[in-house]
Amino acid sequence: MQQQLIIFDTTMRDGEQSPGAAMSRDDKVRIGKQLEKLRVDVIEAGFAASSPGDFEAIRAVAEAVRDVTVCSLARANDHDVTRAGEAIKGANSGRVHTFIATSPIHMKAKLRMEPDAVLDAAVRAVKLARNFTDDVEFSAEDAVRSDVDFLCRIFEAAIKAGARTVNVPDTVGYSVPELWGELFRNLMSRVPNADKAIWSTHCHNDLGMAVANSLAAVMAGARQVECTVNGLGERAGNASLEEIVMAVRTRSDVFACSTRIDATQIVPASKLVSTITGYPVQPNKAIVGANAFAHESGIHQDGVLKHRETYEIMRAEDVGWGANRLTLGKLSGRNAFRSRLQELGIPVMSEEALNAAFVRFKELADKKREIFDEDLQALFSDEAVTPEDERYKLVSLVAHSETGRKPFARIVIAEEGRERHAEAHGDGQVDAAFQAIESLVKSGAELLLYSVNNITTGSDAQGEVTVRLARDGRVVNGMGSDTDIVVASAKAYLNALNKMAVKTLRVNPQYGTEAAVLP
Ligand code: KIV
Ligand code: ZN
Repeated sequence: MQQQLIIFDTTMRDGEQSPGAAMSRDDKVRIGKQLEKLRVDVIEAGFAASSPGDFEAIRAVAEAVRDVTVCSLARANDHDVTRAGEAIKGANSGRVHTFIATSPIHMKAKLRMEPDAVLDAAVRAVKLARNFTDDVEFSAEDAVRSDVDFLCRIFEAAIKAGARTVNVPDTVGYSVPELWGELFRNLMSRVPNADKAIWSTHCHNDLGMAVANSLAAVMAGARQVECTVNGLGERAGNASLEEIVMAVRTRSDVFACSTRIDATQIVPASKLVSTITGYPVQPNKAIVGANAFAHESGIHQDGVLKHRETYEIMRAEDVGWGANRLTLGKLSGRNAFRSRLQELGIPVMSEEALNAAFVRFKELADKKREIFDEDLQALFSDEAVTPEDERYKLVSLVAHSETGRKPFARIVIAEEGRERHAEAHGDGQVDAAFQAIESLVKSGAELLLYSVNNITTGSDAQGEVTVRLARDGRVVNGMGSDTDIVVASAKAYLNALNKMAVKTLRVNPQYGTEAAVLP
């Protein structure tokens, strides 16, 4: 009998700590519902004490998602634990996840606390959390650089105080698989009440070993993995959910456990998270990268055609890659459009929303001969990142380039409903469009990243553009899609400016100081 491996998704908490990946309440509800379809076991929806906005977002996810445990992070103090407990009150099943750092460097330099005081704070936080829910998790931050004897003491005390899950984080991505597995074996055999809790692993990817380390912990007996969609997370990210899940499934001969994940929801989850956070997925990323199932060499193609398993250990459709299915065309009617949206799981709230979407679909069908599922998804993602009430909207754009002449763009944007016009020259059409926008908005933001991905194949494919802007220490990501790359770029730039215009103050749970205020 296989044991269950609990998949704890922290895309909306640790993933959100990636620069510019801040998510609104509605973004979190959308991701939460997709994670529910994916059938993760626990969703860490945020850090309730970080801001009123994040508190609200966790509350909204707790109410929207019924079939998954919803969790809030909390530092080990009364205020944080109380906020976390209140945020998850409406959940069908709610968890409080409290943590405190246990390594000498963190205790001395960051917390300025003696080990005994750290242990007391952990116990107090776990006991307080139990007043809100029976499902309490305790993490020893920076466990990787902590003294093992002290870890044994604090985990024993946390379990005794009521923690049902104890999490061992490699906060700085420092471990290697052999040592990480060894640490789990050591802790699980030395902590006297180890069998009263589920042991969890939480790995960062600074040395590119987050997934390998997590799997080593699973082999050593960990039964919860904390991970994120697309491996999103602080610095180099967290262990990637899709890689963990598919490794455990594909190598069921070596892992004594299984997950309840519906793998066909992996690619839709990856796309949604990428669109909302503005973090594109690298083409060669395992499982969810555009090339993950593409065979370039003739020998491989020949082998796959003769017998698929010659070069494939998983099937693309099993992880949710559609076969670039031709869905609709220019002549398709409203009913066909509606039912395809339903099949794709795209929520359409009202008849007006359906009508507006149908108009956008027809406009796209005029520009593009064949409309694929991915196009419909992009159409709706684009709408999701450009809701009605945003400050800046693209009205029209003319861009021109000619050999030997400086490229030029003329743009009309609506700023809070009022139309504004500008023209500019630039190094290319995209640069000219950005200069024209800047001449109106004068944001002064620095462009940190500009990237283009094609959504489907062919020269008439829609392009999806990501723009990352920074100003006054704040970083935001914007996305836009269109068959015209210059238009997609202008949309992405405006989307980033819209995010910049939203004022939110959030405290990073792991740094917690003024200097670490997040967007
Ligand atoms: O990396 C880490 O230590 C964390 C904890 C808050 C669990 O994210
Ligand atoms: Zn982390």
